[in-house]
Amino acid sequence: MWRTGILTASDKGARGEREDKSAAVIREMLAGMDGVVLSYRIVPDDPEVIKENLVEMSDIDKLDLILTTGGTGLGPRDNTPEATRAVILREVPGIPEVMRAASMKKTARAMLTRAVAGVRHRTLIINLPGSPKAVRECLEVILPALPHGLEILT
Ligand code: MTE
Repeated sequence: MWRTGILTASDKGARGEREDKSAAVIREMLAGMDGVVLSYRIVPDDPEVIKENLVEMSDIDKLDLILTTGGTGLGPRDNTPEATRAVILREVPGIPEVMRAASMKKTARAMLTRAVAGVRHRTLIINLPGSPKAVRECLEVILPALPHGLEILT
């Protein structure tokens, strides 16, 4: 069983102005795998807040996997990759490389996500873009490799 967390970065979502459909897609896609969602947080696109939450989810909640959604683009409030890079100890570049490569078959806009992935202690943190469609398309290609990745991490 993977102890999993979802962190949605969205100013509108955190203010309760937007339903979090992307987290729902993550839950749906994890349901067919060995993942149990133990923590769900929705936070504003503030790098310090994102960092604090990622550290808590990793070091205190001791999750195996954190999937973030949102804040990976080029907008001034898109801060998730920087916050993630600040808390990971080792980067896992292959995960976002594959997400972007596969997603380019769906939309040329896939190149606009700056998503990163990496390991903090025993937690694998993966950024996903914000739209439910993008979450589905990215998870589809990375989920098959996650069981092995998480197995060797622990
Ligand atoms: N990846 C896939 N698979 N499908 C998509 O529709 N949208 C892109 C990109 N990645 C997309 C995708 C778009 S339009 C943007 S702006 C970036 O992800 C960043 O999205 P974010 O700022 O919501 O994280």
